[in-house]
Parts: sequence; structure tokens; C-alpha cells
Amino acid sequence: MAKETLTITDNRTGKTYEVPITEDTIKAIDLKQIHVVEGDFGLMTYDPAFMNTASCRSAITYIDGDAGILRYRGYPVDQLAEKSTYLEVAYLLINGELPTQTELDKFTQDVTHHTFVHENVRTFIDGFRYDAHPMGMLCATVSALSTFYPEAKDVLNHDIRRQQMVRLIAKMPTLAAWSYRHHAGMPFVYPSNEVSYSENFLQMLKRIAEPKFEVHPEIVKALDVLFILHADHEQNCSTNVMRSIGSSRADPYVAVAGAAAALYGPLHGGANEAVLRMLREIGSLANVPAFVKEAKGGSGARLMGFGHRVYKNYDPRAKVIKRLADQVFDLVGKKSPLLDVALELERIALTDDYFVSRKLYPNVDFYSGLIYEALKIPVDMFPVLFAIPRTSGWLAQWEELLLDKDQKIARPRQIYTGYDERAFVTMDKRTAAPTKG
Ligand code: CMC
Repeated sequence: MAKETLTITDNRTGKTYEVPITEDTIKAIDLKQIHVVEGDFGLMTYDPAFMNTASCRSAITYIDGDAGILRYRGYPVDQLAEKSTYLEVAYLLINGELPTQTELDKFTQDVTHHTFVHENVRTFIDGFRYDAHPMGMLCATVSALSTFYPEAKDVLNHDIRRQQMVRLIAKMPTLAAWSYRHHAGMPFVYPSNEVSYSENFLQMLKRIAEPKFEVHPEIVKALDVLFILHADHEQNCSTNVMRSIGSSRADPYVAVAGAAAALYGPLHGGANEAVLRMLREIGSLANVPAFVKEAKGGSGARLMGFGHRVYKNYDPRAKVIKRLADQVFDLVGKKSPLLDVALELERIALTDDYFVSRKLYPNVDFYSGLIYEALKIPVDMFPVLFAIPRTSGWLAQWEELLLDKDQKIARPRQIYTGYDERAFVTMDKRTAAPTKG
């Protein structure tokens, strides 16, 4: 039988080394024994953006980007979208197994009874400018929750940890909805224990003066499916931040705030907002070719909602969302005028050699924005709608990190490219340096 090792010959010294291969991986630390001079630092790997480095072992989410596969704890995401609910999926991500009815009832009860936030959070949100972006408010308020639950620092205590996880899953919709209400200049709506997780969020977002606020069950289901599809995505940018902050044993509120900040960027969760702004900027079918030309021109402009670091095939979430979009458009009785622009962009991207050769397929964010728009949710709220369900994924990954004996505080190495030691220059001898970047 072939040996599960890698033999490396260092041509600088002629020495040969044998390092073990486990799960198609070598340990970067095994390269440290390779050095030119006894006592020097040893060989490192250089991997900006973690293009080919596993930072952890994880049993939560499986992605095969080439085959377009996404599974949570082994269950294909399309089956979960069809048959499950967001809270059941959150339970699955955190606990590793689908809940029994009794377990689900208890989890639902726990989450439902932790949706309220301290009244001081109201005044905290009131302090923001009238036009503050809801994502900025969400990041700040979830971080502020850390000050209300000082016991959360005890991250190695199972019961305390679990209580914060329930609180975070429960309170994110409240903070998200209140951020929007502040932005819209509308009074806050308190959570309701009578309705489901997703319906409660829609109520807090939309309710005005109706004695009984009702949303079509299919709309509630559509939002719940979107929440399922966004719940986890293994080691993406924001999850990496969650794990990195968590590795210093900071409490989960500040860690979620950091993860949400990473999600906010237009290359990650902010892409759904960027897609809608892009579609509006294009405006009509006639403008599509010029826009596509620019995105291919190397100017840095991109077709938002296309491409993915790991999917080099159709994003499996985008397939479900595309179907969902049709259902929602039928329900609300009108198609978005931007849909034609979106369909034309998709048609071009799936046939144009630039996109085909780079395997740039529509991703999860391409259609989700159109659904949110059809539900009359403002564009600023789109990344917030991503952050709510991703919280369960972040927390599952955070707990896995804390219980993983291989993990330590995250601390990458660098290749220093700056000056060697030099003597301090007094003010009278300095000249202005040219501007960088
Ligand atoms: N439009 C035009 N060209 C693109 C695009 C795009 N959307 N995405 C990548 N490219 C090109 C890029 O210019 C490069 O071309 P070349 O080889 O000629 O230099 C090539 O494709 C590879 O791109 P990359 O930047 O090396 O790929 P990456 O894996 O670092 O980036 C990405 C992945 C998602 C950041 C990128 O595809 C992108 O910026 N997409 C638009 C933003 C977006 O939709 N983000 C949401 C991702 S899905 C939600 C989530 O999970 O966060």
C-alpha cells in the first residue's frame, strides 16, 4: 500500500524530509523542520486570503464547490429548504442532529422567550443619526449586548455558553428590526410570542397600526427558506472572523459583532445590497451590454452576485432562491422591473467566454435581493437579513472552535518586507514621503 506521506527535497541543502499526509493535508508546522542553517526559523507557507489552507477541522457544513453541493451536518440544503424550518436548522447546526419534537419545542420556547432586549437598548439605538445604515447599527447594538451579560465571558462553561447562543439567535431579529425602524423614523414594535421566528421578524419590521398584523403564510415560508439558505457556509470571511475573535476567548456578542462587520462588505454579505444597486444603475435591458463590457474590462468593476471563492459551478442556494423568487413574484402579483435586467445578465454570464472560462456563476446574492425588493424591504436591510440567520452558523462554528483541542489563539505569520534597522531621523532632516496606494 502506498505510504500516506510527502517527501520533500530542499534543493538549497540537498536534504530530504518526509511529512505525514492526513485527510489530503499536510500540517504547515511540519515544514518548520526544513531549514538551511540550524536554528533559523524554518520553512513557512505563504497563503494570503487562505486560498489553500485549512484553518480548522469542522463537522458542520460540507461544500463541494465544483459539484455545487452544500450540506449542513450531512443534509443537502435543498432538502432542508423544502422540509425544515429555520429554527430546526439552527438546532441542527448547533447540536449536530435534527431535533426530536420535544427538543424542538424546548428550543423554540427558549428562543421565543429571549427575543426581548433591555430597554436601554432602545435609547442606545435612538442615539444613532436618523439616516444611519441598519447594518452599522446592528453591529454596534449586538456588541453592546456584551455589556448586559457580563457572565458571557465564561465561554468555557457549557451552560453559560448555550444561554448566550439562545439569546443571540433570539435577539438578532429584534435588533435588526429596530435598526430599520429607527432608520425609517418609525416606532419600535416589540417581539411577539404568538408567531414563528420569521413571522415575528416581519411583524417587528412592518407592523404599523393593524390590531392584528397578518402576513401571507407563503411569504413567511419564503423568508424562512431564505434564512435556512443563509444559515452557514463553512469557513467564509465572516465565520473566519468569528473564529478568530473567539480564539482569544472574547464573549460571543463582540465576536458576532465582528463577524457581522465582515459580512457587511460588498464582496461578502453586502453583495445582495450591491446587486440591487447595480441592477438599478443598469436600469434597462439596453444598458446591459455596456455594463457587462465594463465588468470584463479589468477596471475593477464587477458583476455583483456573480462568482464565488469556492463554487465553480451554480451556487446550490441560488438554484433554490431562483425558484423561490418566482413563487414570491406570483404571490405579490408583480414581477420586479429589474428582473428582466437580472435575467439578461444571467444569460450573458452563462454564455460569455469571460464568465464561462472563470466559472463565474450567479451566487446566493443574485436573486435574494429581488425577493427582498418584492417584499418591499429596503435595500439597506439586505445585509441585515443575511446576518440574522448566519448567527446560528457563526455560533455553531464558534462553539466547535472552543471545544477543539487543536485550536489556539489565531496568530498568522508574516513575511516581513520592511526596512532593516535604521537610526531615528530628527524632524529637521526629514523629507515628505510620496503618497502610497
Ligand atoms: N465580475 C467580473 N469579474 C469577476 C467577478 C465578477 N463578479 N468575480 C471574479 N471576477 C474575475 C476576476 O476579475 C478575476 O479575473 P482575472 O483572472 O482576469 O484576474 C477572476 O474572475 C477570479 O476572481 P478572484 O477575485 O480571484 O476570485 P475570488 O475567489 O477572490 O473572489 C468573489 C470571489 C465572490 C469575491 C468575487 O467573485 C466577487 O467579487 N464577486 C462579486 C461580489 C459577490 O457577489 N459576492 C458575494 C459572494 S456569495 C455570498 C457570500 O457567501 O458571501
